[in-house]
Amino acid sequence: MTTRLCLLFTLLLCAPAARADDAAELWSRSCKSCHGPDGRAQTRLGQKEAIADMSQASWQKAETDAELRDVIANGSSHNPKMKGYKDRLTPEQMDALVRYIRTFKAK
Ligand code: HEC
Repeated sequence: MTTRLCLLFTLLLCAPAARADDAAELWSRSCKSCHGPDGRAQTRLGQKEAIADMSQASWQKAETDAELRDVIANGSSHNPKMKGYKDRLTPEQMDALVRYIRTFKAK
């Protein structure tokens, strides 16, 4: 019983931290190859496809969370290279990625 309680507390303590790391990990696993580690798309495919620089304040302002969420879930209607992730990611993961993209904004 005590062991189980201990385990539960450990899980509860670790959960929020794990979630924050999740988005960063997801990004490097699934998005970085095209969008770059910092969202600036300084990658071969990023240059070729002229992917937007997500660190630009103007880009951050022009895109609403709903728009980002939609492209992540369903892909881009302008470029088939950006595929939809709704079959591979949970809604929570996609929301986390939207928040993660917001951290790219240049200071
Ligand atoms: C195979 C390369 C590739 C991968 C991998 C990729 N993207 Fe993209 N992404 C693109 C391209 C190309 C565009 C530009 C689409 C356009 O012009 O509308 C794009 C556009 C976007 C946009 C919209 C940008 C805008 O200006 O409207 C978002 C948001 C986005 N990607 C998020 C992600 C996320 C999150 C992941 C990982 C889960 C990801 N992408 C993985 C290629 C990729």
